[in-house]
Amino acid sequence: MLKKALENALTSKESDELISAFDQIGDIIIVRIPDSLLSKKKIIGQTLLNEVKVARSVFHQASDIEGDFRTRSLEILAGEKNTETEYKEFGCKFLVDVENAFFSPRLSTERERIANLIQDGEVITNMFAGVGMFSIMASKNKKCTVYSIDINPVASKLCEKNIELNKLVGKVISINGDASEIIKEKLVNKSDRTLMLLPERSDEFLESAINTTKNGGIIHYYSHIHADKKSEAGKLSEEHYLQVTPVQSEILGSKIVRAVGPRYYQTVVDIKISK
Ligand SMILES: C[S@@+](CC[C@H](N)C(=O)[O-])C[C@H]1O[C@@H](n2cnc3c(N)ncnc32)[C@H](O)[C@@H]1O
Repeated sequence: MLKKALENALTSKESDELISAFDQIGDIIIVRIPDSLLSKKKIIGQTLLNEVKVARSVFHQASDIEGDFRTRSLEILAGEKNTETEYKEFGCKFLVDVENAFFSPRLSTERERIANLIQDGEVITNMFAGVGMFSIMASKNKKCTVYSIDINPVASKLCEKNIELNKLVGKVISINGDASEIIKEKLVNKSDRTLMLLPERSDEFLESAINTTKNGGIIHYYSHIHADKKSEAGKLSEEHYLQVTPVQSEILGSKIVRAVGPRYYQTVVDIKISK
């Protein structure tokens, strides 16, 4: 459909390059335009806006995801310059701000996997919760309590709004601050399950994840790993975790969440800890 939309503006090879770098989030389209096509960015934006009926805005991702808040700079190409939109996933509604708080539609399969693992009665610490995607999906169909921590005030505010939007007040608690500080202050030995989706810095926060998790609880440990063979990425992450962990750990499983570069993967290891 996109290829068709762009056929008057780009060659077939050029539109192939663009399509792999394209996200639609609610009524916002974000494209990463390669340097070779930057001179055509306005026409790309206008064409997408005209052809994708639900689109209200088309942005070019002008920086990588960066900084403590894991956010990116966006440049408006066509339509309205508004980076907030509503996004639906797993029967839940989310207000997201695609420039000022982390959000990725590419984690939807992992969010669904985690939501399906939750048991009634669980307490969950989501250490790097963003706008509350995992927290809200986890608690939507289960009787659980989720502490949803993020250091970015914009993300925490949106998480509060998303809790109300999904009628989960009291089940999901949005807390703004540094996860290790918050855990030290009020969440030691509280969680049956701990999510640590800040893959670049997992080792730095592992001790805090262990602190908030009860004896016998589960940690979902995300990391980035180089692997020559894709089939080895999960095993390599397990080995890495076992090298760095200070506690007795039973590995329940591991998998690739998504590719993040050539021979470079985001992985998750599920671990039951004893302490
Ligand atoms: C990769 S994003 C994950 C967001 C969320 N889990 C999701 O799937 O949408 C990482 C998040 O961690 C937050 N963060 C970074 N450092 C933090 C810290 N020390 N304590 C709490 N949150 C932090 C960032 O603001 C960002 O929203």
